[in-house]
Amino acid sequence: MNDLPQTSAPHLTEPTGDYQTLHEFVAAARRNLPDNIWDYLIGATETETTMRRNRLELDSLALRPRVLCDVSHVDTTKSFFGKTSRLPVMLAPVGSLESFHPAGAAEAGRAASEFGIPIIVSSVTKPGLEETAAAAPGRKIFQLYVRGDDAWVNDYVRRAIDAGYEQFAVTVDTASYSRRERDIAKRFVKPWRAAATGVEYQASFSWDNVKRFKDKWSIPLMLKGIATAEDALLCVQHGVDTIYVSNHGGRQLDHGRGSMDVLPEVVAAVAGKASIVVDGGFCRGTDVVKAIALGADAIAIGRMYCYGLAAEGASGVIQLLQLLETEVAIALALLGVTSLADLNRSHIHAGAPQVTAPHVHSAFPLLSTTPEVPR
Ligand code: LAC
Repeated sequence: MNDLPQTSAPHLTEPTGDYQTLHEFVAAARRNLPDNIWDYLIGATETETTMRRNRLELDSLALRPRVLCDVSHVDTTKSFFGKTSRLPVMLAPVGSLESFHPAGAAEAGRAASEFGIPIIVSSVTKPGLEETAAAAPGRKIFQLYVRGDDAWVNDYVRRAIDAGYEQFAVTVDTASYSRRERDIAKRFVKPWRAAATGVEYQASFSWDNVKRFKDKWSIPLMLKGIATAEDALLCVQHGVDTIYVSNHGGRQLDHGRGSMDVLPEVVAAVAGKASIVVDGGFCRGTDVVKAIALGADAIAIGRMYCYGLAAEGASGVIQLLQLLETEVAIALALLGVTSLADLNRSHIHAGAPQVTAPHVHSAFPLLSTTPEVPR
């Protein structure tokens, strides 16, 4: 699947691509994107507090390393949803990928397949379900915004099964569209949103619809946007296969909790009865390691991979994932474990003091020295 050089111990080698640090992708994306698209990508709701809390919560978890453990070979692969992945990372569903690269989801899907991780393909990105599947022979999940009746949903599910998607995700944190003031202040409206019809179906979608889905279909169901133990328990009771802890990158409800504040109560409530995915501000290898140590099966990256896509298409996403892989491998080695399965709560110290004011790019302190990225 992947023709790039690999080593069983990526922490012992230096990255060889043009991009040597993750913040270089952010800077390159800023150079390549028009202001409206850049602001749509980095923006969040109203005060952007939820978005900042995603970083705040990740940053308030400190790592507790063990030493003298022979970490000469470190394995960054992980099994989730019954299959092994090169990293415990997925590309999150992102709308309008065609704004970041002309080939949109096909380009992102190609990158995910070539690198060896799944992509969750958004229902509001081009070039569409079948075309994206054709470009992405590897693992893929289809995500839907419910904008029609049961028959409308069923048509999407059938098409996703026929095209080889392994799970079907429904986003459930979007009962109302939010107010993203970076866009509104400039009177900028994304074309897909201007054309959106049937939003009333999204607002009325309920656990009855989840039950109908589970009664009819055997493709695993993922619900994206779970933010409490109460709803995680309801997911388990309804037979939901994958619980996706997310606040939509801070782009839906403002003044929510950071995802890593939510994850532990969801892990406790689910008690192994469903898979758990988390996203929200994940940028670094240490971020990935923290979520796995606290019980997530996998994490997803959204904005982060869009930087790679805008920087250099599929090659940019692959190089970005390679750097993330290197960071994960180094974090594992320095924590004294040789695989992600060896991580547990003992590697985490919660409540560490914050050292950086959190914001969308606070994981990249060197960006302030890069003139192309003004904020
Ligand atoms: C957004 C939608 C596409 O966050 O999920 O813009």
